[in-house]
Formats: sequence, C-alpha cells, structure tokens
Amino acid sequence: MSSTINVFIHSSQFPDAVRKDLLESMRRRAVNHKFHYDTIRQAQKWLCLHETYSPARTRPEVANTYHQAFRQTVKRLGQGPVQVIGLGCGGGAKDCALIRCLEGRTVHYRAVDVSTALVLKACQAAGEWMPPDRCLPLVCDLATAEDLPAEIEEHSPSGSIRILTFFGMLPNFEPAIILPRLAALVKPDDCLLCSANLAPGDDYRQGVERVRPLYDNALTRDWLMTFLSDLGVEADDGTMRFSIEEHPAGSGLLRIAAYFEFLRGKQVRIDSVNFDFQPSDVLRLFFSYRHTPALVKDLLAPHGLSVDAQWISPCGEEGVFLASARPWPDRLPK
Ligand SMILES: C[S@@+](CC[C@H](N)C(=O)[O-])C[C@H]1O[C@@H](n2cnc3c(N)ncnc32)[C@H](O)[C@@H]1O
Repeated sequence: MSSTINVFIHSSQFPDAVRKDLLESMRRRAVNHKFHYDTIRQAQKWLCLHETYSPARTRPEVANTYHQAFRQTVKRLGQGPVQVIGLGCGGGAKDCALIRCLEGRTVHYRAVDVSTALVLKACQAAGEWMPPDRCLPLVCDLATAEDLPAEIEEHSPSGSIRILTFFGMLPNFEPAIILPRLAALVKPDDCLLCSANLAPGDDYRQGVERVRPLYDNALTRDWLMTFLSDLGVEADDGTMRFSIEEHPAGSGLLRIAAYFEFLRGKQVRIDSVNFDFQPSDVLRLFFSYRHTPALVKDLLAPHGLSVDAQWISPCGEEGVFLASARPWPDRLPK
C-alpha cells in the first residue's frame, strides 16, 4: 500500500455537521453512536472489545456461518466485476472475508464509515487481498447523508455487480431512521448482505438476558466512558448501568441499553454552550437491538427489501441475511 491514500469525506462529517450532532446528543440526553468511534483511541478500544466479545471473532462456528453465507452468495452472482460496498465497515474484517471469497474476479471496494480511522483500517485490510488502488474510503454519516445513493453510484464501476454489506449495523440504529436510508441505496440488481445480533433460543427476552454479559463488561464500559471523559466527565461523576428495554414501546423489539446516571452536579461545556447535569440526571450512552430472524424479515419488508436467504449460527447469536429489492426468482440471468 502506498504511504498516502485519498479519503473522501462527505459533508455529513464536516466539522459543523458533527458539532450540530454533538449538541443534539447533549440536548436529547442520548448519545449518537457515531461519537463512540470518532477518535483513534475510541476506534482502537472498540476494535479490542470487538476482538474479545464479538461471536464472529471468538467462535469459529459463527465465523463459519459468515463464510458459508459469503460462498453461497458469490455462487449466485453473474459474471463480471464486483463492487463490495461496506456500509459501516468498521475494521473491515467481515468485508475482507467476503472479498477473499471473490478470488479470481475483479473486485472494487468502497469502505464507508463515520470513522476515518476505521475506513483506513478497512482499506488497509482489504489491500492485502486485492489491489489497494481499487479500495476507496468514504467517511460519512449513513443516517444523515441525503445524497449518498448518488455519491456511491458515481463511484460504482459501470457493469459491476454490487454487493452492499451492512454487518452489525441493524442493532445500533433506530430502524425508522436507518432503514429508509438503507433501502434508498439498494438498486434492483444489487445484493444486500446484512447481519444481525440475535437473541438465542426460543424465548426472545431470555435470549436477550443471556447475551447481556457481552455488553455489561469492563471493556465496553471503558470504551463508552471514553466519550464522556473527552467531555470532562469522570467515571466517579456517576454510575453506568445496563438495562433491557422495549423500544419503541409496543413494538416488541428489545435492546440492551447503557445509561450514565450522574451522582453529582456536572457542567459539560461544548464551545460556548453549557449543559448542566444534576444528580440523578441520566444520559443514554448506547443501545444494541437484538433480533430474531423473523424480526429481521419484518423490519426489512416495509422498505421493499426481501430476505432471499439466511444463515443462522449454530449458537443462535448471529444471523447473516441476503436481501434484495428484487427477489432472486424475478431476476433475469445476466
Ligand atoms: C458495530 S460496528 C460494526 C462494524 C463492522 N461492520 C463489523 O461488523 O465488524 C458499527 C460501525 O458503524 C459505524 N457507525 C456508527 N454510526 C455510524 C453512522 N451514523 N454512519 C456511518 N457509520 C457509523 C461505526 O464507526 C462502526 O464502525
């Protein structure tokens, strides 16, 4: 890989937009997840906790489920170059596993994430398996970048088959915000591979309880605390607690959420704007939805995305879903 690389930065991640989103997080007392991946320190802490707790990293059978999904998806593709568009690519490990299954084809990679450190990491990782000059990093906020479909299309090589990946992203967004954005990116001939963290077993709530230690642990607490300490809030200014909640109320969807409850008064200053927290005030730091395969189908369907195939890990904790805007039986062979 060359010692320099061109990174595209979408205006959704320009300083004014980021500042506005940060102020909004403080006003709403609910932190936008993108602020947990922003700095190099946060990205490194997240990569470390991902290595330690993500079943895709720690359990060979889960990694194998991804491989099976990738191999079988690749078999369905027609001839021609392929572009992998990693939406929320993180460190790119899963996208790279997919790229490796595309060996022998011309592959282009678009690494898309809100974190500059992570798109660079993903491109560096992909560069081990494909020519680095075909990796294009894009920093952008998937939840707010209105013109993203056009931007992505502009850099899709003509005649290429597009595989959009959305791994581990469904849990961290409100479905009503991200799913219309995701659907707008998927064109009729595209493949969408997404993965979800599932609640294992037959009892949804009990399954969510079972995976709670994957979140309520020292590494996750330390990672989430980094955002607060960068704002001058110390760990002993409050306590962090994790709970399981239904959200939106009545939806039947469960998520694990982390809250910071202030034990003493604290002022957080962002530029010239002050935010006063009183004892017992609460700031939501994070949430992660857990799904079932049926819930994933039900969430995607109203947005015109149908699940054509699914691969569930034997432990029942992760699922990979192949979805599209035009189901496979209706597609003409290329
Ligand atoms: C749970 S990680 C998943 C990473 C990777 N796809 C994987 O499965 O290992 C969530 C990723 O979403 C990114 N992210 C969070 N909010 C985002 C946003 N609003 N727009 C784009 N990316 C975002 C984070 O930087 C992080 O890389």
